Amino acid sequence: MIEKETILASLKTKQLGKNIFSFESIDSTNTYAKTLTKIEAPHGTIIIAEDQTSGRGRLQRNWVSQKGKNLLFSIILYPEFSIEKISLLPFVGSLAVADAIEKVTALSPTCKWPNDVLVNNKKICGMLLESSTASSTLGKIVFGIGVNVNQEEFDGNLRFKASSLKNESGVEINRVLLLQSILEELENRYEQLSHFPPQQLLNDWKMKALLFGKKITVLESEFSYAATAIDVDEDGSLLIEMEDGRKRNIFAGDVSLAYQ
Ligand code: BTN
Repeated sequence: MIEKETILASLKTKQLGKNIFSFESIDSTNTYAKTLTKIEAPHGTIIIAEDQTSGRGRLQRNWVSQKGKNLLFSIILYPEFSIEKISLLPFVGSLAVADAIEKVTALSPTCKWPNDVLVNNKKICGMLLESSTASSTLGKIVFGIGVNVNQEEFDGNLRFKASSLKNESGVEINRVLLLQSILEELENRYEQLSHFPPQQLLNDWKMKALLFGKKITVLESEFSYAATAIDVDEDGSLLIEMEDGRKRNIFAGDVSLAYQ
């Protein structure tokens, strides 16, 4: 099990990860984190587990992960910035994870809108951001992150779409070093979003973006259609051009490369 003392030993953050709940097994770190926000656990508290019995993904999907191989954790955040910036948190997260992977491994990750991190076009990391306040106003955010680190086997269809850092680099990755690096990068990017206009953050994200200029399949509610990804706007929406030439912004949903 990843012990809190090991994480804390050389963690260079001010707040993120300074308060840790570590579990061998739990239903979902996000669900536990939501409960903790009710008792006002401090900003930056993390909940980490070796295994989740009901790991949750975006769009009501499951998140499946082999016990003891990966990183499964949630961070509690109480943002103090304006509500418009909340929609940019996925960019903070995916850029932080991509930068951390670049520092800890020899890999070159890319970011896929809205908040996936890929290596060699395969998904390595997914994020589930949930607001634990009834209204959608500012308040309590649970930021769940799952990174495939040392898992070697992926079941069924997943093996064509997902991979791990070990599979892509050929070497076992130190999970504690990676977690510390993610928390440090996340804290820096979070500060950047809090105190500065979002252009620099978005530009940095775009440097690692995978989709621009590419044919994609857009999945919005139950509809799916072909388009080309053009840009990400300052509100975090994806600008696409549909096959008839019309442009539109997508705020929620999922996209995949058309050849996949
Ligand atoms: C996705 O890509 O669909 C998002 C996956 C998010 C998975 C993480 S693992 C830790 C945290 N706890 C959960 O139940 N989900 C998130």
